[in-house]
Amino acid sequence: MRDRVYIDEIGQHEGKEVTLEGWLAGRRSSGKILFLQFRDGTGFIQCVGSRADIGDEPFEAADTLPLESSLRVTGTVRADARAPGGYELSLTGFEIVHGAEEYPISRKEHGTAFLMDHRHLWIRSPRQFATLRIRATVIAAARNYFDSRGYTLVDTPILTPNSVEGTTTLFETSYFNESAYLSQSGQLYNEATAMALGKVYCFGPAFRAEKSKTRRHLIEFWQIEPEIAYADLDDIMDIQEELVCEMVERVLETRATELGILERDADALKRVVAPFQRITYTEAVDKLNEAGHAFEWGGDLGAEDETVLANMFDRPFLVHRYPRSVKPFYMEDDPHDARVTLSVDMLAPEGYGEIVGGGQRAMDLDTLEQRMRDENLPIEDYQWYLDLRRYGSVPHGGFGLGIERFVTWVCGLPHIRETTAFPRMLSRLRP
Ligand code: 4AD
Ligand code: MG
Repeated sequence: MRDRVYIDEIGQHEGKEVTLEGWLAGRRSSGKILFLQFRDGTGFIQCVGSRADIGDEPFEAADTLPLESSLRVTGTVRADARAPGGYELSLTGFEIVHGAEEYPISRKEHGTAFLMDHRHLWIRSPRQFATLRIRATVIAAARNYFDSRGYTLVDTPILTPNSVEGTTTLFETSYFNESAYLSQSGQLYNEATAMALGKVYCFGPAFRAEKSKTRRHLIEFWQIEPEIAYADLDDIMDIQEELVCEMVERVLETRATELGILERDADALKRVVAPFQRITYTEAVDKLNEAGHAFEWGGDLGAEDETVLANMFDRPFLVHRYPRSVKPFYMEDDPHDARVTLSVDMLAPEGYGEIVGGGQRAMDLDTLEQRMRDENLPIEDYQWYLDLRRYGSVPHGGFGLGIERFVTWVCGLPHIRETTAFPRMLSRLRP
């Protein structure tokens, strides 16, 4: 393949003439000097050319070219400390690949609905570019964490007959002559593969028909979910902590430019080092009440409660041992306190709230069956799952980390919708 030069490695070509292939992201001119903001998908660079350098006719052409026209630009790479990426291109010429129509997204403020309707174009903007690049790094770092520690990646099905996380958010679809659901989580299958392979993880989409519009819920989101045979609650907490530290570290190491575009406070991310504080649900309830935020023991921590709690911390923290009433059937009971389960959520600081949910799984067949009956789950459909408690049951546990929640926090965004290229929300299926 032909050697191409890209903006994110332009420093290797300092002083040399290069050709870049991309799009016109912005433009201004003084009549004598032209400044083109140019992007190629790996970054943004300013190209500067005088009328004398590039000739009258091309100068006029560039000066009126609609934004997002596609171009090949040629010029000499110059270091410039004032430039965002540290380099500028001294333009010697360019070739128009396609002159765009008048571009609908301009510098002026647009409403969220307009931008979301134009999401297929909006993703070209700097902040969207930065967010999607960080998302890719976050995913690669998470996968690398597990791949480099002996976990086996096992993909779990998307079409399933079972609910995992309650029946109210199930997405029903038809499966020939019966009904099926889109997966809410790969966990139950992970528990089976962990009994076959010891340490496993799955990475895939999860679907939940969340009826509430919030800044932290999507209908379709991606989860990375490890499951480990013979792991107890403390192991699960250790793994969550180590994983999240490594993911943040990787973003800081490789995505400084993108964090800069987002104006994300890097110091807040540099504080993300172990150990994270571990508090029980009961302690969390006390903290809320002490802060004047009335909360009754036994309820689930809602978005608002989590925000109040998460504003009290400067790095992620773990809340463990939630009450039985707010956690699914598969959670193991705490042998020392029958009211609570061996569950743990990780909450992100700065008001962000839950980014990880998991815990230790119920090991005993009779207990599990009883709980499923209490919750009116169709036990017939879960016989395969109950087999895991019939044939060599072991203590085990795992968790799910929501990629979009994680990216929202790492990027410091006010809303989850920009963390995925084409978000699916309560009132948005398009584009
Ligand atoms: O806490 P949840 O519901 O846990 C499970 O699904 C477990 N079965 C995972 C496991 O133990 N293997 O979801 C896990 C994470 C949440 O902490 C959150 O980060 C994310 O998935 N999440 C969502 N993200 C965006 N939109 C939604 N509607 C989400 N629901 C959960
Ligand atoms: Mg949860």
